[in-house]
Amino acid sequence: MRQAGRYMPEYRKLREQHSILDLCHTPELAAQVTLQPVTRLGVDAAILFADILLPFEPLGLGLSFAAGEGPHIANPIERLADVERLPVLDPEEDLGYVLEAVRLARAALPGDIPLIGFAGAPFTLASYAVEGGSSRTFTRTKTLMYQAPDTWNLLLGRMADLVGHYLAAQARAGAQALQLFDSWVGCLSPADYRTYVLPHSRRALALAAASGAPIIHFGTGTAPFLEDFASAGGDVIGVDWRIPIDDAWGRIGESRAIQGNLDPAALLAPAPERDRQVRDIVARAAGRPGHIFNLGHGVLPETDVAAVRAVVELVHGG
Ligand code: CP3
Repeated sequence: MRQAGRYMPEYRKLREQHSILDLCHTPELAAQVTLQPVTRLGVDAAILFADILLPFEPLGLGLSFAAGEGPHIANPIERLADVERLPVLDPEEDLGYVLEAVRLARAALPGDIPLIGFAGAPFTLASYAVEGGSSRTFTRTKTLMYQAPDTWNLLLGRMADLVGHYLAAQARAGAQALQLFDSWVGCLSPADYRTYVLPHSRRALALAAASGAPIIHFGTGTAPFLEDFASAGGDVIGVDWRIPIDDAWGRIGESRAIQGNLDPAALLAPAPERDRQVRDIVARAAGRPGHIFNLGHGVLPETDVAAVRAVVELVHGG
């Protein structure tokens, strides 16, 4: 999940001088932000500081982040010609600054803290490319999916190739695990996930797996089609709080590892309630190997750093 961010004073301080894209574009700064949560929170792994939408810049889609409004895509995808026009990226060439941030962060991290690289999944990336930004209903995305399935499949196929190769490049640069974020895929029905998305996620995950790095396949709202979601691939399945973690584990099978699944809002609760929820997840995982304790989604900006630290300590047995 997102670890760094506006809830951290040291991150906000850097953001006073640099835009989020500046931070991402400057490998020294991106590496520095990557280390902030490790130092501050005592977590067991670091996630690279970057964004799933960075590939949109070399794709020519135009990316900006407006304060408080989230991402904005200047040239959204509307029709077949827009997809055909997308260049095929070379991660080393077109996203070399991200790979440099991976190398710098890896070199700066303690040896016992693994570095996680990441990319957006084909569906979630396509949803931003088509909507032109964030969405609640994914109306344009679903319209394209239903009205122009050939265009849709071409778009998701392009995204799958892109992120598969990009993830593998991050592994070559030193990322020891890779995470594929399908943050918004839970807006689909199980049947539509299977028809319109699963083959493309499977391709992205297979390309990434060729690197040999373990992969975390994360989504939110995936409970209604968790078996299909898991069948697309991933050594670890990341789940949100809408399903008890033991139910989810039973459904994906014990041969897979699982990541999750505290509601980020639990960090806003009084300490006894927050700690009860943390203990409940740990109890449901029952000490079985292969549980990565995590939030079910990113840290909310309103969160107190002390609450995050308290959760880390509790999970560590404190
Ligand atoms: O430690 C880390 O935070 C890792 C870096 C990271 C960022 N984005 C930096 C960022 C990671 C892993 C992401 C992934 C990402 N980006 C996802 C998938 C994970 C998830 O949360 O679902 C998605 C959907 C995005 C797209 C994105 N980027 C949105 C919707 C926003 C705006 C939302 C907001 O909170 O304003 C961003 C901006 C962004 N990317 C921030 C961070 C830390 C927000 C903080 C800022 O404005 O500086």
